[in-house]
Amino acid sequence: MCGIVGYIGERNCVPILINGLKRLEYRGYDSAGIGIIDNNKSIVVKNKGKVSLLEDKLEELNLYSNIGIGHTRWATHGIPNELNAHPHANEDNTIFLIHNGIIENYQVLKKGLINFGYKFKSETDSEVLVHLIDNFIKKGYDLTTSVQLALSEVEGTYGLAIVYSKEPDKIIAARKGSPLVVGIGDNENFIASDVSAILAHTKQVIYLEDGEIAVIKKDSFNATTVHNDEIEKEIHEITMTLDEIDRGGYAHFMLKEIMEQPETLRNSLRGRIIDDEGSSVLGGLTDVVNKLVNSKRIIITACGTSWHAGLVGEYMFEQFCRIPTEVEYASEFRYRNPIIEKDDAIFFISQSGETADTLAALKEAKMKGALVLGICNAVGSSIARETNAGVYTHAGPEIGVASTKAFTSQLTVLALITLLIARRKSLSRIDGKQIADELRLLPEKIEKILTLNDQIEVIAEEFKNSTNFLYLGRGYNFPVALEGALKLKEISYIHAEGYPAAEMKHGPIALIDENMPVVFIAPKDSTYEKIISNIQEVKARGGRTIAIASEDDNDIDQLVDYSIKIPNTIRMLTPILTVIPLQLLAYHIAVKKGLNVDQPRNLAKSVTVE
Ligand code: M6R
Repeated sequence: MCGIVGYIGERNCVPILINGLKRLEYRGYDSAGIGIIDNNKSIVVKNKGKVSLLEDKLEELNLYSNIGIGHTRWATHGIPNELNAHPHANEDNTIFLIHNGIIENYQVLKKGLINFGYKFKSETDSEVLVHLIDNFIKKGYDLTTSVQLALSEVEGTYGLAIVYSKEPDKIIAARKGSPLVVGIGDNENFIASDVSAILAHTKQVIYLEDGEIAVIKKDSFNATTVHNDEIEKEIHEITMTLDEIDRGGYAHFMLKEIMEQPETLRNSLRGRIIDDEGSSVLGGLTDVVNKLVNSKRIIITACGTSWHAGLVGEYMFEQFCRIPTEVEYASEFRYRNPIIEKDDAIFFISQSGETADTLAALKEAKMKGALVLGICNAVGSSIARETNAGVYTHAGPEIGVASTKAFTSQLTVLALITLLIARRKSLSRIDGKQIADELRLLPEKIEKILTLNDQIEVIAEEFKNSTNFLYLGRGYNFPVALEGALKLKEISYIHAEGYPAAEMKHGPIALIDENMPVVFIAPKDSTYEKIISNIQEVKARGGRTIAIASEDDNDIDQLVDYSIKIPNTIRMLTPILTVIPLQLLAYHIAVKKGLNVDQPRNLAKSVTVE
């Protein structure tokens, strides 16, 4: 999704902006641009396509400036082209701005501005902002006041950075519903939509909150509301390193992130298991643990892969905590006026912590007085800050658009929360201890699964030209079937569907023929015999089959075309193991098809618009 980076200081901003934009590429974009001030003149350079094209253009121009802003755009209003790319400038080219988010009342504002004589160059909603600000400047206000007045007329969401060549000592930034962070340096300051864009320069940051407007000069920073009330802001220290967000020798971020899972799981578990008690300790939930244990219902709300993690969480919470649990798409929850009772606890799961639908659902639940809890990966993200309490997954930065290590760390945290609640209810110490012991063994078991990478690559070669796939699983592994299908479709563009295996005979079985590979998630658990019957049904209709099976299951080899054997664990934790071969299968198929694995078409890492 769109990215923002800005610089004001004593160095040439051009390479800083380009490097910042490269760091933001992983979010997904279709065009890029920068705006700078050179000798009191605004210069905007932009193009459709990659940041590297923009870099080539800029090299020829040989520009120098101490102030500038840069943007990667992911089209929402208007096709991806140079005119629609940001920055957008006013008619006399004195003001330019970049915008993440959506201006919902842009048509009304645009009509009004056209009546005042303004001419629009792009099809974007963002362009209204620059003319609206210009309109206030023409009435005699300074830039800061003009931005405040303009934003009080705007409905929608924004992360904004604005520069005015007649006030070249400042960048104005504003946030509502789209993340922005200010980086504090020595005689230089930064603005970014994501800390990774500025981490090479500073670790001191200030998070802007919704409704805040910041005036950033090279040696000062201050924040106000749209009504010009001063706001005190706190400086935070970032602990993430640049190494953590590099590819580390792997061909793709996705492969690196799949391979990192033994380590990320260790990080999710570190210091959180109490062995003697067969329980867990989660600092972020300490203040709410009693409320949580006594809650009458748990609702889990999320999108995409995080929603799949929520489905596994439902099985865990209901089996061990005996608390009725519902899992909702955040996009549905936010609009359907959900019934929320005073004893409900609502978890919001999000890797990025910035997903617009999940954030909106959270605000809705908070307004209705629910206990709102986060399970987030990105530290300091909006969801992490908006919730009453929560748990970080500690998977480290996930750059590949396809979520992998974030998913397994979400499942791990859900298992830890299950232990925390269930041990305070009916789970015995011995049973709790068994879960805790099995959790500790997972990283080694994942290491073992990762050694199957070559075998999985061979299977990928065999199936890379298939145009459809079916994924089937039962119980805890039904959500894994959904997740396996999502991984495949999002990076290989192969149509894939996940189903509870028993549902096959209610429809999907009509699709089975020799062109329909079916992936069965079939570890030896209480549903094993039933899955075997489903495999037989597919075989009888000529379907080709791949099974994710237990390492001691020799029988299954007689039945399926390919089997991928994984170590045993207790039922509730199997999804953390069974999903890994599915991540690798999707990865290798996409690579063999020559596709952009880390930045698949039309997708963004963090979906910060509706
Ligand atoms: O950052 P979040 O976990 O809130 O993101 C939710 C989804 O957008 C995300 O999981 C998406 O489905 C992934 N691309 C799946 O790999």
